[in-house]
Amino acid sequence: MTDNAKTPARYTITAALPYTNGPIHIGHLAGVYVPADIYARYQRLMGKDVAFVCGSDEHGVAISMKAKKEGITPKDVIDKYHAIIKKSFADFGISFDNYSRTSAEVHHKTASEFFVKLYEQGDFIEETTAQLYDEEAKQFLADRFVVGTCPKCGHEEAYGDQCENCGSTLNATDLINPKSTITGAVPTLKETKHWFLPLDRYEDFLKEWILEGHKKDWKPNVYGQCKSWIDDGLKPRAVTRDLDWGIPVPVKGGEGKVLYVWFDAPIGYISSTKEWAEREGKDWEPYWKDENTKLLHFIGKDNIVFHCIIFPSILKAHGDYILPDNVPANEFLNLEGNKLSTSKNWAVWLHEYLEEFPDMQDVLRYTLTANAPETKDNDFTWKDFQARNNNELVAILGNFINRVVVLTHKYYDGKVPTPNEFSQVDKETLEAMKKYPEIISTSIERYRFREASQELMNLARLGNKYLADEEPWKVIKQDGERVKTIMFVALQIATGLAVLSEPFLPFTSEKLKNILAIGSSGVDTSWTEMETKEVLLPADHQINKAELLFRKVEDQEIQAQLDKLEATKKSNEQMNKEVEPQKDTITFDDFSKLDMRVGTIVEAEKMPKAKKLLVLKVDTGLDTRTIVSGIAESFTPEEIVGKKVTVLVNLAPRALRGVESEGMILMTENADGKLVFVNPDEDNVGNGLTIN
Ligand code: 2FM
Ligand code: ZN
Repeated sequence: MTDNAKTPARYTITAALPYTNGPIHIGHLAGVYVPADIYARYQRLMGKDVAFVCGSDEHGVAISMKAKKEGITPKDVIDKYHAIIKKSFADFGISFDNYSRTSAEVHHKTASEFFVKLYEQGDFIEETTAQLYDEEAKQFLADRFVVGTCPKCGHEEAYGDQCENCGSTLNATDLINPKSTITGAVPTLKETKHWFLPLDRYEDFLKEWILEGHKKDWKPNVYGQCKSWIDDGLKPRAVTRDLDWGIPVPVKGGEGKVLYVWFDAPIGYISSTKEWAEREGKDWEPYWKDENTKLLHFIGKDNIVFHCIIFPSILKAHGDYILPDNVPANEFLNLEGNKLSTSKNWAVWLHEYLEEFPDMQDVLRYTLTANAPETKDNDFTWKDFQARNNNELVAILGNFINRVVVLTHKYYDGKVPTPNEFSQVDKETLEAMKKYPEIISTSIERYRFREASQELMNLARLGNKYLADEEPWKVIKQDGERVKTIMFVALQIATGLAVLSEPFLPFTSEKLKNILAIGSSGVDTSWTEMETKEVLLPADHQINKAELLFRKVEDQEIQAQLDKLEATKKSNEQMNKEVEPQKDTITFDDFSKLDMRVGTIVEAEKMPKAKKLLVLKVDTGLDTRTIVSGIAESFTPEEIVGKKVTVLVNLAPRALRGVESEGMILMTENADGKLVFVNPDEDNVGNGLTIN
């Protein structure tokens, strides 16, 4: 077991505050919330005093932009998404001790006090500089209100404060070819006063604290990013903005300005802790100020600079606070090969998943953990989701538990049998099981949640193999006494699984504990006891009836999800399609020269060696003529014979691949981009009708 005496007793665990400009998707879950929840649940099981805090990030340009787009107020936006996000986290079983919001009074007060303290200590530079200004919108452009080319990597859609491509933090004036995202205008420069945090003053501190102090224990991706920023040289960063949405700058001269969202948001962790402590009758300060507290920030890789460089510099400047012990940032999760995107709706939304797969929270948790983007970007596919469920949760874990519980009821009316002498295999199996708490703990303590989840599955594999090798269902015919021992051993493994699965599969662990009647019944085993306790589930203990832990996911359920994504892709393509500019104006006389009639396709065949062409015979009412049409990729000859279509009959004949075409069938695209005939209501027209 990990040496608990050496590890702190108190943990403050934070999970990135999500912007309330959209709901939570699987990328957020895999990168931040599932690993943070596993860690928090695990530390609670270790008996640690845990404050696991989060909340909605409700300031910043992301919110104002969403409000502008939807034609509602920023307050409407945050209220709408805060409610959706908070509920979906709760329904998904993320065990926050507190989920707050940065519009809360306690947060405004805490962030303002922080600012004032730093201001009074002289930790800011107050400076009037020329900033980007949109003359049309009459507004300064900061953060997401301006895009341009990143000076570091050349990415053309970098924001005014950050390039999401290379992760660099930027000042809006660094952008090459900046453009307002409000009006599209090229900004001018206008003077304005702001307060800057001189990050260059913290270089020595950051070098010592990160580069020397955390080289070994921080993840290489996190350490590497920090090193490169520090090596590049840090510059002062504005911590105020000329915007109308945010926390008002609380010092003289700050009228009409607000705090930069990345100044106030991380302080939201502190406000959330205060809110929780107040509710629970606790003191919040040790969670942020006591050196024996371990502070951990779970975030995605785009947030590294803010949590490792800027926020620690703010905490350091303040002087009373502890610094994060670790920032286990994850890489990104993609979806079916493409980058997840809120604005493009390329996502699996948590609130929708919970509706479409009720009571299957643990399946998503498991899939996202088993395939977590811990060391590189990873891809979520619905096929993998199905395979993880059907081949692992159902076939290994679910199958083992079901066999153990069903056989215990069949042979012993649900009472744990008294074992006889253990065989060598029994002893080895029980010994192997006792190693799992430490194996899994070690992985979790190192933030290797994928590895930890696979070790849990290995314990279920151990149980399955044991049953398959010992075959109690066969042995029962000759040696009932031996079966008692086999089932006793299998029940110990089932109990081990109930205990160790709690951080990863909390709903399943709960169900399993109910089936085994442990926890509330007085019979209990903790994670730490598992290694030393001889017996986890004693003889004569009565267990409950079997209950299905997992169900199979069928092909059609997966297909429905893939179809949903395909529809999103199509609609995005449609929206991105360049609309062709209108052609030159024609006169009414020009138009009236067109002779359009309703005709019937009487024959159709493929043009040999031409992928796109069909040769049609069309009854126009005037005659039956040949028309060559480029529709072979959208229609088969069989499906269009008999169809009424609109024909331009006086188009000059022309030869296509040697066949003379005498007219044109009029086609258009429907909303899905599919080619369709411009055809009149088929019941009401006859051939030869002239279209005016
Ligand atoms: O990237 C984001 O979604 C931010 N809202 C994360 C903020 S984390 C913290 F500092 F509040
Ligand atoms: Zn860049």
